[in-house]
Amino acid sequence: MPIEQRGDASVVTHALAKDELTKLRDVDTEQVAFRKGLVRLGRICGYEIIDGRFETEYAEVQTPLTTTMGERVKGLDDVVIVNILRAATPFVEGLLKAFPRARQGVISASRDESAGMDDDGEFPISVEYEKMPDLGPEDTVIVADPMLATGSTMCTVLEHIRSQDVDPERLVVLSAVAAPPGVVRVAEQFPDVDLLTVAIDEELDDDGYIVPGLGDAGDRAFRTN
Ligand code: URA
Repeated sequence: MPIEQRGDASVVTHALAKDELTKLRDVDTEQVAFRKGLVRLGRICGYEIIDGRFETEYAEVQTPLTTTMGERVKGLDDVVIVNILRAATPFVEGLLKAFPRARQGVISASRDESAGMDDDGEFPISVEYEKMPDLGPEDTVIVADPMLATGSTMCTVLEHIRSQDVDPERLVVLSAVAAPPGVVRVAEQFPDVDLLTVAIDEELDDDGYIVPGLGDAGDRAFRTN
């Protein structure tokens, strides 16, 4: 099974996804390899989403020799990928290799780390920029963020998406690594969301970082620290 249900989330179990994630976790993986690894992981996850969540239909095709029946994936023209700036950018680049015709939304939502986590394990989130395409009922919307930690950022982004008052056909949240509190928060607040990740890690530390995790995905991809 390439995508397995584990409680409130589903896990992408493709061997190459695990392999890429292991390299991303490695503290010795430097910026370029880290960024390229996120791109590769996004592409693998994209293929797995197509395989596990999309239907195919039979279609007649004319080969150079004869006509035969083939299969086409349905719905690939109705995909919206939402890039949560900034760590999702390389992850989205990979997803776009699987969904080259996707419309794209961008939302800059970041947690105020200087404020720290509150008693409910949440961070204040500031949204500074948002540009979303108009959504339709036939759309598959994939919201990408490599790290689903407390779930505060993701829930804020999902509220913005829901404010369009359109129920897309599928709303997928995709992360590389998720922490249990983030999975629970998103599942409780958005029970109809399809929560996909490559790994569900053990816990969050006091600063809201996922343990074992892979550190700060944005800083490692953009070399800002
Ligand atoms: N964001 C990150 O980049 N890493 C974490 O562990 C948590 C949030």
